[in-house]
Amino acid sequence: MATADGTYEYKLQHGDEFGRTYFRRFNDLAVSSIGAGTYLGDPTDAVDSRYHDALTTAFESGINVVDTASNYRCQRSERVVGRAVEDADVSRDAIFVSTKGGFLPFDGSRPENPGEYVREEFVETGLVSREDLVRGSHCIAPDFVDAQLDQSLANLGVEEIDCYYVHNPETQLEDNSPEDVYDQLEATFTRLEERAAAGDISTYGVATWNAFRVPEGDDQYLSLPEVVSRARKAAKVAENTATHFRAVQLPFNVFMADAFTVEAQSGPEGDQSALWFAHEAGLNVFTSASIAQGDLASQIPAEVAETLEGDSTVQRAINFARSAPGVTSSLVGMSRSEHVEENVEAGRFDPMGADAFDAVFE
Ligand SMILES: NC(=O)c1ccc[n+]([C@@H]2O[C@H](COP(=O)([O-])OP(=O)(O)OC[C@H]3O[C@@H](n4cnc5c(N)ncnc54)[C@H](OP(=O)(O)O)[C@@H]3O)[C@@H](O)[C@H]2O)c1
Repeated sequence: MATADGTYEYKLQHGDEFGRTYFRRFNDLAVSSIGAGTYLGDPTDAVDSRYHDALTTAFESGINVVDTASNYRCQRSERVVGRAVEDADVSRDAIFVSTKGGFLPFDGSRPENPGEYVREEFVETGLVSREDLVRGSHCIAPDFVDAQLDQSLANLGVEEIDCYYVHNPETQLEDNSPEDVYDQLEATFTRLEERAAAGDISTYGVATWNAFRVPEGDDQYLSLPEVVSRARKAAKVAENTATHFRAVQLPFNVFMADAFTVEAQSGPEGDQSALWFAHEAGLNVFTSASIAQGDLASQIPAEVAETLEGDSTVQRAINFARSAPGVTSSLVGMSRSEHVEENVEAGRFDPMGADAFDAVFE
């Protein structure tokens, strides 16, 4: 697992190469504010090999955050993250590894008949019950998530995962009431608190796409304060002294700034954006789609670009995402070493100050 000593040693080695607040705190760890994502790409050996080189380059050049999920590229992303962590000239305790469970993963390649695959591998084996299955592909029931966590530990080849996310819980709202989804989250969080106490994960969180950036009343809306409150209850049930719920993942970039602009989370002094709520609650936000799945590599509105530092469009876009309040690290999917080299350079520049960031939205 990532440790305070390992990550601070890493920061000491690399810190001088970067701008202000490049390394940030996650509990007692020092983590880079640019992280490597592993979502996109075909499930092939060729893409695995590209990711392996890109990730080892990333770890060796100042990026010590990597994010994956059991379903990404049919489990190949988790497996290649594990190989890269092992092969990079960086010790395991310097790297923050996160993964997620919730989508039923394929194994190595997409089956010809996904419905049949899900029935045979998950339903008939008793891993997933039909009532818990939404869209034929999503389940966040405690037993399933527990089993997925074991599989992720094996795929990654690590003893402990630094942050384990429940993946897109809002998907469950398609077939269930919000109250039922919160209840199921609480049950699953209780299991994750137990797994944290057992030393299998250091922290956990929720990774979302729509839940925290849509207005209240939207079909996909979840209340972040309610999710946090359920995590606190789960910690009590598991008899932990404090909750291990420490992180939220949500999309945030120049084109998708709703997590900052939509005030739909109820804070102590009224409604707040998800980013401000998380910031004030001491949660760590990891932004996904930080460069709009590649779109921001080639275009960024001129009026925003001129407020940002960076030598290229993509560097400015990355610096926008990691300048937002509450953001610990901005995840950028990168399966090519040349992209890693360009993206890590964004960290040589300072992020925007709070006033400059706010001014973009005035
Ligand atoms: N709901 C969720 O939980 C959720 C949803 C989406 C994403 N995520 C996480 O967040 C991470 C980031 O999001 P994302 O991967 O969807 O989108 P992204 O980071 O906005 O964009 C990734 C895309 O940008 C390309 N790219 C990267 N650097 C580039 C550069 N310097 N120049 C040109 N193109 C560049 C990548 O290409 P190459 O691969 O060719 O380098 C890839 O196609 C994911 O990988 C995943 O870990 C989570």
